[in-house]
Amino acid sequence: MPFHTPDLPYSYDALAPYIDEETMRLHHDKHHVGYTTKLNAAVEGTEYESWSIENLLKGLESLPEDLRTPVRNHGGGHYNHGLFWGMMAPEAGGEPSGAVGTALRETFGGFEEFKAAFKTTATGRFGSGWAWLVVNGPGRLQLVSTPNQDNPITEGLTPVLGIDVWEHAYYLTYRNRRAEYVDNFFNVVNWDTVAHLYERAR
Ligand SMILES: [Fe+2]
Repeated sequence: MPFHTPDLPYSYDALAPYIDEETMRLHHDKHHVGYTTKLNAAVEGTEYESWSIENLLKGLESLPEDLRTPVRNHGGGHYNHGLFWGMMAPEAGGEPSGAVGTALRETFGGFEEFKAAFKTTATGRFGSGWAWLVVNGPGRLQLVSTPNQDNPITEGLTPVLGIDVWEHAYYLTYRNRRAEYVDNFFNVVNWDTVAHLYERAR
């Protein structure tokens, strides 16, 4: 199989009470594995099975037409969830220091202002999708949201933080209260990962 679902970098219950164990089990073992399985089914036996997932998503428009939709949806789901697990950690959250913390405060006028803008982006995404903090040019930060399993790299942007706002990500604990889920997400943001991705992007 060309692609594998990475294990969670912590236990299923590690993000509780902010993200419950059952949600993490279903989300990783069913949803993420499902995306990876369907991505493999689409590319296996084609010349694209040796491509990296990043290059497949950056090059969506150059793929054969029958591969574009499965790679966008299932490849996006495979890639997005792998990023998402690493962007969270137990005993994390708080306010970031270092270059990314400075850039956030300069771009948004303060850390609280950044959180409010991120929340607006995440709650404003109609239906299923993601909200992202991306690097857009040298050191420049921007908030975007994407529908379905689209990833900003397809648009030439580099994601450094993302939140899954599909209902499968929060419904068991938060029901329809997406805003509360976004608030609590900030208790598990792995700013070390964000800083690493930011340094690599700029
Ligand atoms: Fe998800």
